[in-house]
Amino acid sequence: MKITILPNRVIIPEDHETLMEALIRHHLPVQNICNGKGTCGKCKVWMTGYVSPPSDHDMLHLNNIELQAGFRLACTVQPEEGMVIELNFVESQDRKVSALQGMKTTTLDPGVEKVYIQSSEPTLADERGDWDRVVDALSTATGRSYDKTSLYILSKVPDILRADKFALTATVYEDKILEIETGDTTKRLYGVAVDVGTTSVAVALIDLNQGDILKVVSTENEQTAYGADVISRISFAMESQERALALRVAIRRTINHLLEELEVQTNVGKNEIFKMTIVGNTTMHHLLLGLDASHLAVSPFVSVCNRPLEFSALELGLEINPQARILLLPNIGSFVGGDTIGAIVGAPVVLEQGNHLLIDLGTNCELFLKTDHTMLACSTAAGPAFEGAGIAHGMRAKRGAIESVTITEDGVVCQVIGEQEPIGICGSGLIEAIDEMRQSGVINKQGKIVDPEKAETLAIELRKRIRAAEKGREFVLAYGSDQGQDITLSQKDIVELQLAKGAVCAGIKTLVEMAGITVSELDSVTLSGTFATYLKAHNILNIGLVPDISEDRIKTVGNAAHVGAILALLDHQEVAMVGELYRKISHVELGGSTTFSNYYMDSMYLERLS
Ligand code: FES
Repeated sequence: MKITILPNRVIIPEDHETLMEALIRHHLPVQNICNGKGTCGKCKVWMTGYVSPPSDHDMLHLNNIELQAGFRLACTVQPEEGMVIELNFVESQDRKVSALQGMKTTTLDPGVEKVYIQSSEPTLADERGDWDRVVDALSTATGRSYDKTSLYILSKVPDILRADKFALTATVYEDKILEIETGDTTKRLYGVAVDVGTTSVAVALIDLNQGDILKVVSTENEQTAYGADVISRISFAMESQERALALRVAIRRTINHLLEELEVQTNVGKNEIFKMTIVGNTTMHHLLLGLDASHLAVSPFVSVCNRPLEFSALELGLEINPQARILLLPNIGSFVGGDTIGAIVGAPVVLEQGNHLLIDLGTNCELFLKTDHTMLACSTAAGPAFEGAGIAHGMRAKRGAIESVTITEDGVVCQVIGEQEPIGICGSGLIEAIDEMRQSGVINKQGKIVDPEKAETLAIELRKRIRAAEKGREFVLAYGSDQGQDITLSQKDIVELQLAKGAVCAGIKTLVEMAGITVSELDSVTLSGTFATYLKAHNILNIGLVPDISEDRIKTVGNAAHVGAILALLDHQEVAMVGELYRKISHVELGGSTTFSNYYMDSMYLERLS
């Protein structure tokens, strides 16, 4: 039996395997938040050709429009001959991506450059070797010496030199010649900046001559099939070498898939990409490199390596020019990685004089606090709620996601990405919805959805939207049209958000206390993350995601970690700077901190927290 995975993949499921098991075994991206139990509703795929009858789980999690269109939950589907599956893999149009598109940076010194040279032809009086001839001409042109190259380059020198009368273009990086090409290709020099998140991965293609961001694509991290957060990935990797290998392969394939997509969507060949910068948390860093991640999760929580690293693309199996340089920004500690360093570079206000806090919101949430006396960093396991996962109708910020919510006594108005009927809610929509529900009295400060029978002061229209759900109550944000499914927030969803925001708030209070200052002494609080641009300061404060502070000190900067990777790609000096910076930051482990535990319980309330 064969199944086609669009656009061009064919897989053969094994007997008794569900579609999701087959997808995972073939390393194809599918969300597996509930471990295939049919309860999370996240493993949605689109089927064409043969479409299996909907299961009970399909009916529970998918609306009629989706069911009729051929959407199914992969974990409930038994493969059949002739199935054609679309996984909806790469996104290049969601708002996260568009937030970076068109950004232009000011400093341009990527460290890699192309030089067009004309060397002299050999004669009996000039018997220098072909390679020596190239190196001499290059040194004359640039004033630098070049001592390193590869056998791959040496083997093609004779042909390249003679193809165009001893003229060629050399791509150089420090004292190394990375590539030689016939003709003048100096105008075509590209790099990519990669943000490896626990839940999603984004790659920006950049013209290294102009500093323009040409295209940004993102997709789900293929590793999510093996666990939703860093702890579950580490546990999975620790089970066997094969499992650790599966995670390494999954993230490399995710990046390679995005590189392929960039090649399709632009006129830039993968071979023309000569530099890559990567940011990611320490777990993603280790799993990408194939390093033992087990010591990250047990006391005293040490990484294999914190310092900045550099490899060739060939070494890492990433499909750009094989000699391209790949730079990984340094880690700060076991759960605070190069993404935090990237976020600091991307939001440099946090290094200015005074007390500044940076919050990088994601599945793994990192905090960085700089005062005039110290620099501290820690991480809190916020879980995937901010990225729209782990929430019944949660989804990433793309077309159909509710991104903003207003509740009045007349009802609920939802703003939807793409201005269409909503199909779910993303992180910023969730935060705003919960604040609005709290302000309107739909939920109390403990986060409990009120009993509509007893909430006499609550507007009738809002009371009508509260109804019994499988566990507790739920509130209807948007009624589905004819056959569409209602978009609701359940009591469980609210608890997920409380756990996530409580962890962040408690982490902030702990860090501030350790630095010997108070929250009111913070000069700025910068929120970064894929959806941070869309957060509103008053919502963040009202639900107690950050302790109470004057609204004008809160800034949102979007995905600063990715911006940092882009800046490090474009300016070699940034790489040198972070090579110094990471040593000066003290890593704080919150796991065993009683201060953190005490703050955590108090931080669950949905109200402004002192
Ligand atoms: S993995 Fe299929 S519903 Fe959760």
